[in-house]
Amino acid sequence: MPHEVELIATIAIGFALAFTFGFIAIRLGLPPLVGYLIAGVSIGPSTPGFVADSGMAGQLAEIGVILLMFGVGLHFSIADLMAVRRIAIPGAIGQIVIATAIGAGMAALWGWSLGAGLVLGLCLSVASTVVLLKALEERNAVETPNGRIAIGWLIVEDLAMVLTLVLLPAFAEAFGGRASDDAPGHGLLTILGITLAKVAAFMAILLLIGPRVLPWMLTQVARTGSRELFTLCVLAVALGIAFGSAKLFGVSFALGAFFAGMVLHESDLSHKAAENSLPLQDAFAVLFFVSVGMLFDPSIILREPFMVAAVLLLILVGKSLVALGIVLVLGYPLSTALTVSASLGQIGEFSFILAGLGITYGLMEKEGLNLILAGALLSITLNPLMFAGVDRLIRRVRANPRLKKEFEDSRNTRFARLKEDLDSTRRQAEEKAAAHKTFTPEELVDRFPLFKGLMPEQREVLVLHFEPRTAQPGERIIRAGDRADAVYFISEGQVEVSVGGRRIKLGPGDFFGEMALISGLPRSADVTALDYSKFATLSRRDFRQFLSRYPDIRDQIAALAGQRREMNRNLANESA
Ligand code: CMP
Repeated sequence: MPHEVELIATIAIGFALAFTFGFIAIRLGLPPLVGYLIAGVSIGPSTPGFVADSGMAGQLAEIGVILLMFGVGLHFSIADLMAVRRIAIPGAIGQIVIATAIGAGMAALWGWSLGAGLVLGLCLSVASTVVLLKALEERNAVETPNGRIAIGWLIVEDLAMVLTLVLLPAFAEAFGGRASDDAPGHGLLTILGITLAKVAAFMAILLLIGPRVLPWMLTQVARTGSRELFTLCVLAVALGIAFGSAKLFGVSFALGAFFAGMVLHESDLSHKAAENSLPLQDAFAVLFFVSVGMLFDPSIILREPFMVAAVLLLILVGKSLVALGIVLVLGYPLSTALTVSASLGQIGEFSFILAGLGITYGLMEKEGLNLILAGALLSITLNPLMFAGVDRLIRRVRANPRLKKEFEDSRNTRFARLKEDLDSTRRQAEEKAAAHKTFTPEELVDRFPLFKGLMPEQREVLVLHFEPRTAQPGERIIRAGDRADAVYFISEGQVEVSVGGRRIKLGPGDFFGEMALISGLPRSADVTALDYSKFATLSRRDFRQFLSRYPDIRDQIAALAGQRREMNRNLANESA
């Protein structure tokens, strides 16, 4: 194939086949993931017929992983991570250690070296966040406490794997591999220190500067009213931070993107950012599964059936039992233990990267990667079945009065506390959002018929410009003769305009403060709150911009301001 169209060919064929096989899979009652994986196998080098460029597919898949992790970050706050830390940190670390030990032991039985065994064990010990998220999304469980625990657990695993990836080259020689060229002459402790410092620097910079800069930037872009610029900004932030963090700090693409999302989570616009990046996220995540399929050589199942079976057993049963045990020992309920075990009963992206690195440094044979790929493909395929089994088990436990009492979530104090923590972070986030928001674009039109002519997009942008303000009864909001800074749209309560000895009441749906902004003169009247009142205000700059963008509305407002001026002039004449 000519070199210039390889990217297009990979995307086109990847999408087309993933769609076809995904559709067939759903029709057969299988999860679509299985279809995507088979699509990959069918265009991989191990099967006859067309062979797609696996390097290219791998890079496209990486974009999928970045966007997906960015999406997780957008829905996940630091407070969430803190709420689940008591179970996620000991759980993830304990599980990695035990599963790695089992894997290494199994490899020792096959006569592999210690280094190869450790790499295999580590690869099998870490589950795929991509697969987990798809599974949770499918069962609508991303927002549930058990879903949050599973995600937090995998984030800790991912962090541990990032460290492993960085440290592996340094340890390679000690375990019988090739020496690392990156850090000649440095001791292990130095490398460990440098790595930790890099990750810490990355997190500090992003978490300290990010929350100030990123949401501000997003708001500025939203104010331009251009949807494509907004989407572009979201993608630039996600991919830019992922790439930059990998280049500068040696943090993985995926982790960088996760933190970028987490920083934006604090922004009011995060839901819109998530919405805009979702279609791309979905499309590229599909390519992730296709590229896994492409790497797979199905003949290994016939060549080494027992090894494949052993690896699969460790992933599906061994790891799950370890996780189940850890969760129960930590004192959490059975439903949590089962959900976490099902979540972890697969392997994915990090395992391939780690295995690849193990081969590069001469720790593991190429066959090891094939084995890991077989384990990944089969476990990803079987994972939905595990979730279904867990669901059935939980239902059965709940149906049994004796067991139900024993395992009821609400009786478990640790779980109750964790749930409370999660609920309270959620409440705080909602309160914060509510304090920032004046109202929704729909309410805007309900309350102010003036804005009826605006397109939904334009309403959304207008709502963004509004600053909420409140006033107590008797409070002077505008003083005649002052310099004008904003216009007020009344959403609740009542105010009184006093001009020329007359008092005019204004209520919800009315606006005031426009005259001085239009004329450039000082305020023409006093305005006082009669009730506890709420306003949406537009600053002088935003108001001017708004008027110039929507001439129809400008004419209406200007007409009313003209009437008021006329009325005031008459009043002044009368009193004179
Ligand atoms: P501004 O002059 O900026 O500040 C005082 C506001 O009171 C003024 O804008 C109008 O919005 C409002 N106002 C002034 N005169 C009248 C009127 N006759 N009827 C209703 N509102 C008025």
